[in-house]
Amino acid sequence: MRYTLLIIKPDAVERNLIGEIIRRVEADQFMVKDIKRLALSKERAQEFYAVHVGKHFYDDLVEYMSSGPIVPMALERYNAVSALRNLVGATKPSDARPGTVRKDLGVDHTRNSVHAADSDENAKREIEFFFPDFFSDNPASGG
Ligand code: CMP
Repeated sequence: MRYTLLIIKPDAVERNLIGEIIRRVEADQFMVKDIKRLALSKERAQEFYAVHVGKHFYDDLVEYMSSGPIVPMALERYNAVSALRNLVGATKPSDARPGTVRKDLGVDHTRNSVHAADSDENAKREIEFFFPDFFSDNPASGG
């Protein structure tokens, strides 16, 4: 699939890093197809991260993701999911490669500045979570 979802998390929004993150994304040949700034309720954060229910970090994650504004965006590029994960880097900033978003901008395992979808299936679900009309306006298949 040629689409994926990126979220700029509260720590990065708070530090005025929206522009810096979008600059990196666009420099890596992604096109921003849809974008918004919003605050997630605790219930919506629980729903978004339902796959992590029961994990030791789940409550902190939900609390954090509903603690301030976030900026989700739908991105288009060839091999979108894997290309974005390369750009973003490992979940824990201290493990991430130099030059990745999380290495350069992340604070810690929770405040890691961005979320990137980890599979085509999740990318589709996550894009629809924030942009319900996206796939009726844009075709879902293709490289
Ligand atoms: P994200 O890509 O948004 O997906 C789930 C998030 O859980 C992850 O980024 C981290 O910010 C957060 N998290 C916190 N602690 C952990 C942990 N020990 N393992 C994995 N993810 C964690």
